[in-house]
Amino acid sequence: MSETKGTPGAPEIRRVAVLGAGTMGNGIAQVCAGVGCEVALYDVDEGAVERGLARIRANLDKGIELGKATPADRDAVLARVSAVTSISDAAEGADLVVEAAPESLELKAKVFSEADGAAPERAILATNTSSLSIAKIARSVSNPARFIGLHFFNPVHIMKLVEVVWGPDTSDATRLAAVAFVRRLGKEPVVVKDSPGFASSRLGIVLGMEAIRMVEEGVAAAEDIDRAMELGYRHPMGPLKLTDLVGLDVRLGIAEYLHGALHSEAFRPPELLKRMVAEGKLGKKSGRGFYDWSEG
Ligand SMILES: NC(=O)c1ccc[n+]([C@@H]2O[C@H](COP(=O)([O-])OP(=O)(O)OC[C@H]3O[C@@H](n4cnc5c(N)ncnc54)[C@H](O)[C@@H]3O)[C@@H](O)[C@H]2O)c1
Repeated sequence: MSETKGTPGAPEIRRVAVLGAGTMGNGIAQVCAGVGCEVALYDVDEGAVERGLARIRANLDKGIELGKATPADRDAVLARVSAVTSISDAAEGADLVVEAAPESLELKAKVFSEADGAAPERAILATNTSSLSIAKIARSVSNPARFIGLHFFNPVHIMKLVEVVWGPDTSDATRLAAVAFVRRLGKEPVVVKDSPGFASSRLGIVLGMEAIRMVEEGVAAAEDIDRAMELGYRHPMGPLKLTDLVGLDVRLGIAEYLHGALHSEAFRPPELLKRMVAEGKLGKKSGRGFYDWSEG
């Protein structure tokens, strides 16, 4: 395959292990299988793998409905994703391991130390972390030169952006191969140095926190703040609706982390956000956030 030609030391990516089959993991499995890779999907919770496979099927069915794919395409993609019951089974023979487990350094380190031992030496090890330090996670693997961040966006099969985050020890070969693979997936890579919040969250969180402060201060209603950014700045979606979709708890966690890491007041989570999270107003997933989602 041509996508990794000219990248000395980098493998041709044919087999992918996806560790974690939740929101991001099943999407990553789908897009990798969609370009012909054999995908082994693992989750500590076997039910999550089943739900992940059902999600992939539903996404592909939607594609058929929209005339973007045929039932044969769907079946071929599904046939390339297999459920496995251990990290080592997933990583064995993989050219690329993508971890999409919950956002905890300890947990990710544990997952990688297991995958590191089972994956072939040629394999690239990638984390889908949205905020953690690539350098710190890379400490759990024997060769950090092959470690990188591949930050996909939700929903993975639709969103074009992937941040390719290189750490201090990531080799050029790994970086180039990761960029080529992202392009092969039909996505747009943005190459970012390992730093808190990478490029997207660092800017996105500032906007989100400031918008929440504006609601708190009564500057304007949530709908109007969103409309200002949508119509005035051509953002496809305002920062408060986006916060509802991502989850207020998720954004609070990222803001707290960035506030601590970057020492800037711009990231300090507003009291309103903390209160809403404490009250269980988590956005779309809980039916209520800055908007009412209870009608579906
Ligand atoms: N949800 C998003 O919008 C989004 C966007 C970009 C990046 N991310 C990042 O992707 C990662 C996964 O997020 P998500 O939203 O898919 O979470 P999720 O909770 O939907 O899925 C995580 C999955 O990991 C599984 N898991 C737990 N422990 C595991 C282990 N030891 N080994 C393997 N699997 C394990 C869980 O059972 C769960 O199914 C996080 O690092 C998150 O920050 C999330």
